[in-house]
Amino acid sequence: PEMLSFIQGLPKTELHLHIEGSFEPELMFKIAKRNNIEIKYANVDEIKQAYSFNNLQEFLDIYYAGASVLLTEQDFYDLTWAYLTKVHEQNVKHVEIFFDPQTHTDRNVPFEFVLNGIYNALEDGQKQLGISFRLIMSFLRHLDEASAFKTLEQALPHKDKIVAVGLDSSEVGNPPSKFQRVFEKALNEGFLTVAHAGEEGPSEYIWEALDLLKVTRIDHGNRCLDDADLVKRLVDQQTPLTLCPLSNLELKVIQDLKEYALPTMMEHNLLVTINSDDPAYFGGYMNENFWGITKALNLSKVQIAELAKNGFKASWLSEQEKQEFL
Ligand code: ADE
Ligand code: ZN
Repeated sequence: PEMLSFIQGLPKTELHLHIEGSFEPELMFKIAKRNNIEIKYANVDEIKQAYSFNNLQEFLDIYYAGASVLLTEQDFYDLTWAYLTKVHEQNVKHVEIFFDPQTHTDRNVPFEFVLNGIYNALEDGQKQLGISFRLIMSFLRHLDEASAFKTLEQALPHKDKIVAVGLDSSEVGNPPSKFQRVFEKALNEGFLTVAHAGEEGPSEYIWEALDLLKVTRIDHGNRCLDDADLVKRLVDQQTPLTLCPLSNLELKVIQDLKEYALPTMMEHNLLVTINSDDPAYFGGYMNENFWGITKALNLSKVQIAELAKNGFKASWLSEQEKQEFL
């Protein structure tokens, strides 16, 4: 369809992507084999069958199991390179991606294997594919504060490579306040901050992310619509929300894309962006996310173009770098 080629042709950003969530079953088998690790599925089809989730936690259990075959620096390089070549085909020009070091360091994979594998691929992507990037280190919120502090310490020698810290994993019961002191230290060390908030958790978690963690963006943030004062705050400050439509659908945050509150959010003048979250698990990269909402909500070209531009506005590119795309 013509709309699909319009989406394809738009220069895009991706601001909410867990690199471990881009791990496609084919690559998972290949890496498991070379690392002599058994995986509990017989083939790619069986893996894909298992990707059916009723909530965030059911997904996370499978996502951490998948990531457990990643051992060497080369594994992390290959994972990241596969993602970059994929989004390059989709005309993505700039990415700000998460990695979850604790998922790997808790299995005794050295922090530097993870970081260097990912970072070297990002640098090659910039050189060979023209994709600019920023890297965000995300803390797992189901783990304790001490583990997050230890992870922050490991990142300090690598401030040249990591620009921000984030907060992900099981949201309900693990409010932003649990990590207030860790984020305070991260801010003092010069990192930007972001946090997943209001995906499954309540709008109060979004307030905490803003007030206690001083985030410059909210990841997801769907639940902000429950609180008019919060919407006003987000609009006044133009705090970006990194929405992930197919993720919300697959994790049953919404039951149907037709009920996605995106048009309401745009009417409120919230700075909303479209992203894929964990594309290997949720059935689509950037174009599929844009296409899904376009079909379900009958979006116009003007609206789609605005969403793509919002990605550049919400990014950490310099004002000068943004100008090329705005
Ligand atoms: N880790 C990977 N994807 C996530 C999501 N959508 N929410 C929380 N943690 C995640
Ligand atoms: Zn996420």
